Amino acid sequence: MANIHLSPYEIILKKRTGEKLSGREIDFMVRGFNGGIIPSYQFSAFLMAVFFRGMSENEVFSLTKSMMDSGEVMDLSKLGRVTVDKHSTGGVGDKVSIVLAPLAAAGGITVPMMCGRSLGHTGGTIDKLESIKGLNTNLSKKDFFGLLKKSNIAIISQTEKIAPADKKIYALRDVTATVDSIPLIAASIMSKKLAEGADTLLLDVKTGSGAFIKDAGNSEKLALLMVKIAKSMKRKCVAIITDMNQPLGYAVGNSLEIKECIETLKDRGPEDLKSICVEFAAYMFVMGGKTKNLQSGRMLALKLLKDGSALEKLCEMIQNQGGDPDVLKNTSLLPSSKYICRLNSPKRGYLKKLNTHEIGLTAVMIGAGRKDMSSKIDPGAGIILRKKIGDFTGKGETLATIHTSDKNILKHAKERLLRSFILSKTKPDRPKLIRKIIR
Ligand code: URA
Repeated sequence: MANIHLSPYEIILKKRTGEKLSGREIDFMVRGFNGGIIPSYQFSAFLMAVFFRGMSENEVFSLTKSMMDSGEVMDLSKLGRVTVDKHSTGGVGDKVSIVLAPLAAAGGITVPMMCGRSLGHTGGTIDKLESIKGLNTNLSKKDFFGLLKKSNIAIISQTEKIAPADKKIYALRDVTATVDSIPLIAASIMSKKLAEGADTLLLDVKTGSGAFIKDAGNSEKLALLMVKIAKSMKRKCVAIITDMNQPLGYAVGNSLEIKECIETLKDRGPEDLKSICVEFAAYMFVMGGKTKNLQSGRMLALKLLKDGSALEKLCEMIQNQGGDPDVLKNTSLLPSSKYICRLNSPKRGYLKKLNTHEIGLTAVMIGAGRKDMSSKIDPGAGIILRKKIGDFTGKGETLATIHTSDKNILKHAKERLLRSFILSKTKPDRPKLIRKIIR
């Protein structure tokens, strides 16, 4: 064995004392843990040392590469066209991919999307899509490539073969309080995205109370690091830092969000969701060489929403993947909940803040997410906000509705959700949706 003289103990100690690790040492740790040779207790200590000591850029590049190389690295160049993927660091009510992918594909961009399921307080694109009856996100690589060739779009779940080391490491981070580390998040996300093979990548880095990284300065550090990782591997990449101090749109929860996406693709969705999708599509059009500049990209995106082409593309995608396209005409075919309960405001005032992390956790509690790895999602469960930051509410006006099939949880969910709404006497500014562009 080539690495016989490397020792996990010495590598942990080196990191603990703040020394830099070589690519070989990092690769030894990742391979060893992934292959079952380095035990969890040693890898946990390594993660904690990284958490406190951080990593240099070169160390993060090595960590990303080792995690990426732990599984299959797809070669999308076989498609013979530019592919542009978009990835979000995760938020509450973040349904952008479901509107954006068909919008960009309708404009001629090939969009190979591999998405995840719900994670912590955030939802997952795959869980949302699975609320459409019959829709299959477990496609073979051959079918994935076939659909990209035929329709420019396919959204599938991450296969077991993509960055398996990340899966193992993430599960360990989840139980050792080492999730919210910038180098570990950057390497985790980028190892998967780079293994998925798109040559151009648009990153949506969320910041605020509903994001994994809540502080604007740290979100910027994360965005910069991810762009540098992509560039170190010769991929084009832009990161857009966007606000996550309130859910995007009004709906939180799987089928409720699908309904809101369909409305947005019919050009009658919420303004914030529409504008973020138009802006992101404009970047994808420029990065994929479809328009010369962002302004013509925005115009193209608006046209595709208005003339129904983006909605038609979603219809094609649903049909391609075995789903029922009738949901687009009749959204009452989507799963719904037994109970719908109003949350009324106990006083008058302006909505100043939303504890979006808590809203996400309340959504999980009422069935919209998984409480543990084995629990099943209730696709109809969720929350519809009636007020967003800056809106006025009178006493007794509805702040939100809770949708659930679990009657026993309602009282607790109402109390918890109410605590997430912070009112004030003066009108606050509405949060700026797009904070910064990192290239
Ligand atoms: N999403 C990921 O894939 N990894 C992280 O570490 C955080 C969010």
